Amino acid sequence: MRNLMITGGAGFIGSNFVRYMLERYADYRVVVYDKLTYAGNLDNLKDVAERFADRYAFVKGDICDAATVRGAIQAHEVDAIVNFAAETHVDRSIMDPDAFIQTDVYGTYVLLEAARELGLERYHQISTDEVYGHVPQGASKESDPVAPRSPYAASKASGDLMVNAYFITYGLPVTITRGANNIGPYQYPEKVVPLFVTNAIDDIPLPLYGDGLQVRDYHYVLDHCEGIDLVLHKGEIGGVYNIGTGAEMRNVDMAHLLLDLLGKPESLIQPVRDRAGHDRRYSLDVSKLRALGWEPAHTCEDAVAETVRWYAENEWWWRPIKSGDHYQEYYKQQYEGREVGD
Ligand code: NAD
Ligand code: TYD
Repeated sequence: MRNLMITGGAGFIGSNFVRYMLERYADYRVVVYDKLTYAGNLDNLKDVAERFADRYAFVKGDICDAATVRGAIQAHEVDAIVNFAAETHVDRSIMDPDAFIQTDVYGTYVLLEAARELGLERYHQISTDEVYGHVPQGASKESDPVAPRSPYAASKASGDLMVNAYFITYGLPVTITRGANNIGPYQYPEKVVPLFVTNAIDDIPLPLYGDGLQVRDYHYVLDHCEGIDLVLHKGEIGGVYNIGTGAEMRNVDMAHLLLDLLGKPESLIQPVRDRAGHDRRYSLDVSKLRALGWEPAHTCEDAVAETVRWYAENEWWWRPIKSGDHYQEYYKQQYEGREVGD
């Protein structure tokens, strides 16, 4: 595996992974294949395009478009696909699931079919802890059944099932990783941490869903990238690997931590109507990946501090997004008139 096609590489985790892999492996070449939806942004790869001009290429394309996918694989002599391309935001999947089914289910099938026909060495699927559904107690193991509850999670679980079907039926060399909530540089400010941080910087209220007692495992994006790298190189073919820290953080505590770090008042926290079907807790058992030798380099608190610092220092990146028409429209639709408890 020397020539990687990173689909969705212009998004948050994908762009971090592209940078990480090019820095780590001097003999690897990367082609990013990305549709550039609202979440895809070539600013995320600006430094990569400059620093690695001889080993990096970009193709604008939809993973649902079989001809363009095949063309890119052949033109760049791709050995392996790492698929980050997806619609990724639960709230958007509640408003309009259509694109989620197209990209996360059908698009995954198109990539698998191309990988099979063209005989690629590996297909790696980036999945999520959300496929296990709400976990009232304990921690999800890779062998647990999937029980997704949001349209986003259901579309991601469907993708995973198809990946497994290609392994069983056609012997396609696949691996899957299921990551917990990522935080770090270049995360689109619709997800809770960048949304809260950038709102707080501007003294805009932090919309906290429901009672704020929902639990997530937030891990630093580069720790996630290291886990994916390890599975790509040392994972068992056909295997599924969870990636997270196992630490638990309630949303209300996250809001307080972010406000503390930024020196902003607690009065900025604004309770709002809860998300429909809101999963109260995710928790991953990560012992399988640890057995391969992986350890996260950041605690949750380190990851949060690092992330806050990045957003404070990189307003050039997020201000144009937040002031754009697309974001403004989304924010209005999602949050206007949603306040409770005033
Ligand atoms: P993101 O929304 O920041 O980026 C998604 C990228 O995919 C964008 O660049 C977008 O343009 C591209 N894309 C979307 N539809 C496409 C299509 N049809 N064809 C080609 N490109 C398309 O997402 P992210 O947060 O970086 O997540 C990346 C992957 O990791 C996703 O598969 C997601 O399910 C998974 N994941 C995310 C998290 C998280 O906390 N963000 C956690 C676990 C797993
Ligand atoms: P989010 O970042 O959307 O990730 P997930 O896919 O895990 O739902 O949300 C993380 C948690 O934060 C989740 O419990 C919902 C909550 N949340 C809020 O309280 N307010 C917000 O504005 C957003 C976007 C999320």
